[in-house]
This record gives sequence, structure tokens and C-alpha cells, in this order.
Amino acid sequence: MAESVRVLLTEEEVDKRIKELGEKISKDYQGETVHLVCVLKGGVFFMCELAKRITIPVTMDFMSASSYGSSTKSSGVVKIVKDLDEPLKDRHVLIVEDIVDSGRTLSYLIKMLGDREPASIKLCTLLDKPERRVTDVKVDYTGFEIPDEFVVGYGLDYDQRYRNLPYIGVVEFN
Ligand code: IMP
Ligand code: MG
Repeated sequence: MAESVRVLLTEEEVDKRIKELGEKISKDYQGETVHLVCVLKGGVFFMCELAKRITIPVTMDFMSASSYGSSTKSSGVVKIVKDLDEPLKDRHVLIVEDIVDSGRTLSYLIKMLGDREPASIKLCTLLDKPERRVTDVKVDYTGFEIPDEFVVGYGLDYDQRYRNLPYIGVVEFN
């Protein structure tokens, strides 16, 4: 099946919004160190760009959870593929995700990481598809709310491809 990618959010729009989020986070966490927790692989492009826009002290760690196979629908099963290297105790944790879709991955992760006694735990996502939510997840920082379409780019993949696109696009099957 042939497919193509239609631009939904341009590189300029995404960069501008990440800059705004970085400024807001720097203000909200003033006087603290924010510990960014990246959910691999999708969150990595966003986290790097966001971290560069934060002006207060930042530390980072990475984890990998998987709820998708190669299809475009959530399986509902969350698997921790790689855990964090460092403890979260007494840190101000900000989970950085590419997208909140059904919310299953994040509600699981927030609960799991929250049990590690961080000073605080918040969630920052580049994209949110609120229409698709099946579990209650509080999103503290959102880049963009988008319609229920399958998107790629800026870390998001379709069958592991397109992560490197510098913009957000919608996959169209022709
Ligand atoms: P959730 O558990 O359904 O919220 O799914 C979260 C994960 O599914 C995200 O971190 C993505 O890896 C993946 N995902 C959800 N929607 C999309 C999409 O439109 N494009 C690419 N990946 C997606
Ligand atoms: Mg992901």
C-alpha cells in the first residue's frame, strides 16, 4: 500500500511552541532543578529541543515503554523495555512524551514513577489527541491538541519510519 505524508504542523510552528513551553517551565520551576524523564523513542526529539529552551538547571533520564506494535492502534498493554538509570526520590520530575493518545501508557507510567517518591511529578507532551482518551490523565503542559489522525515526525513513527521528519505530518494511505 502506498502512503504519503501531509504536513500538519510546520517546523517553524513546532519550534515556536517548544520555545514557549520552555519559557513557561523555566518560570514554573524557578529556583528548582527540573528532572526531565524522556519516554523513548518518540519523546527524544522533543525533549532535546525542550531542554535547550529551559533556562533553569536541568537533569535528564531516559526510559522506554511500549504499547504499540507495528499497527496504528494501541494494544493497551504497557511494557517497560528500559527503566530509568537514577532514582526519582525528592526530584521534580517532568515526564516528556511525544503524544498522549488513549492515555494508557501515561497513566501507567505516572503511577509507577509516582511510587518512587519524587518531590513532584508532572507531564509535558508535544501532542495530545483528547478525543481518543480512554483513561484519565492530567496533562500539565501540551504543545498542540490535534484531531484523531495518525501522525509522524518529530520522534513519532509509523512502523519505525519518519521519526526524523522535522515537522509533524499525517500519514495518508493512497
Ligand atoms: P497511548 O498509550 O494510547 O496514549 O499511546 C501512547 C503511545 O502510542 C505514544 O507514546 C506513541 O508512541 C504511540 N502513538 C499514539 N498515537 C500515535 C500517532 O498518531 N502516531 C505515532 N505514534 C502514536
Ligand atoms: Mg511513545
